[in-house]
Amino acid sequence: DWNPGNVIAEQVERIRAQVGDARVICGLSGGVDSSVAAALVQRAVGDQLTCVFVDHGLLRSGEAEQVEKDFVASTGVRLKVVDARDRFLRALAGHTDPETKRKIIGREFIRVFEDAAREVVAEAGEHGDEVKFLVQGTLYPDVVESGGGEGAANIKSHHNVGGLPDDLQFALVEPLRTLFKDEVRAVGLELGVPEVIVWRQPFPGPGLGIRIIGEVTAERLDVLRAADAIAREELTKAGLDRDIWQCPVVLLADVRSVGVQGDGRTYGHPVVLRPVSSEDAMTADWTRLPYDVLATISTRITNEVPEVNRVVLDVTSKPPGTIEWE
Ligand code: XMP
Repeated sequence: DWNPGNVIAEQVERIRAQVGDARVICGLSGGVDSSVAAALVQRAVGDQLTCVFVDHGLLRSGEAEQVEKDFVASTGVRLKVVDARDRFLRALAGHTDPETKRKIIGREFIRVFEDAAREVVAEAGEHGDEVKFLVQGTLYPDVVESGGGEGAANIKSHHNVGGLPDDLQFALVEPLRTLFKDEVRAVGLELGVPEVIVWRQPFPGPGLGIRIIGEVTAERLDVLRAADAIAREELTKAGLDRDIWQCPVVLLADVRSVGVQGDGRTYGHPVVLRPVSSEDAMTADWTRLPYDVLATISTRITNEVPEVNRVVLDVTSKPPGTIEWE
């Protein structure tokens, strides 16, 4: 019989057996999966754990602050925040292929974790044992879609599975690897992870990097961040957060179209709204959002984000579309 209490008891045992008294780091994104994985490992091995939040510059507005406010405040976990914005932008420069971008992001994450692990050891002084383990909030669908499941095709390389470099120095601790998102949420609630985190909509580890179709640049990220913040604000205001699985906003950075604003011609970029409903992200349907909410989002984005002159709606289910565009 599946229940979250059993999963916790079983995983705490397994984590203790795997890790022993070694040091562990956990990549924390502030999302549901990594937060619940961190909470499980903390329950198992306490302060052998240090969480690492990587600001890769591909975050939405307000996210870095939110991790400290919500997760650290409630769990007291030790947190290291790494500003890796330049590093990720440099690594991504010139790349447009989706799988290449995903693999670069996966690799840079690991390099940042390696640096952070060395700092954790240095800070521990003479008691500084090597960090041998990396905790990831990998779920079952991530494994399947990255080609790790039985008979599965490689649809895309999730940053924490198919995007890992070959010379990985850490052993992985992945206590959620057999679970679906709804199960992870149940485990999180049972562990006392705050509801604002447990009920957060999914946001992919590679962040806005896979929502800019084309090369990722600092300017494009600013444009997308502004459009995304407006869409999220209006969906929240309309009380729709729990009705939709997530709503990616995608910037078609290499596409331009002609528009008119005031008396002038514009030649700007489109953004795509991709609201989806889903149970487990393996399949999804596009969400029939109310027209007035769509209208408000569209008007606000085109008024407030000068580089964007067109807002379009993605009405494709999964399959054949995936949820993210890359
Ligand atoms: P797709 O685009 O494959 O997305 O239909 C399914 C779900 O997974 C999220 N997603 C990711 N999550 N790392 C993650 O942590 C990734 O590399 C990644 N790629 C996609 C996506 O947002 C959706 O919820």
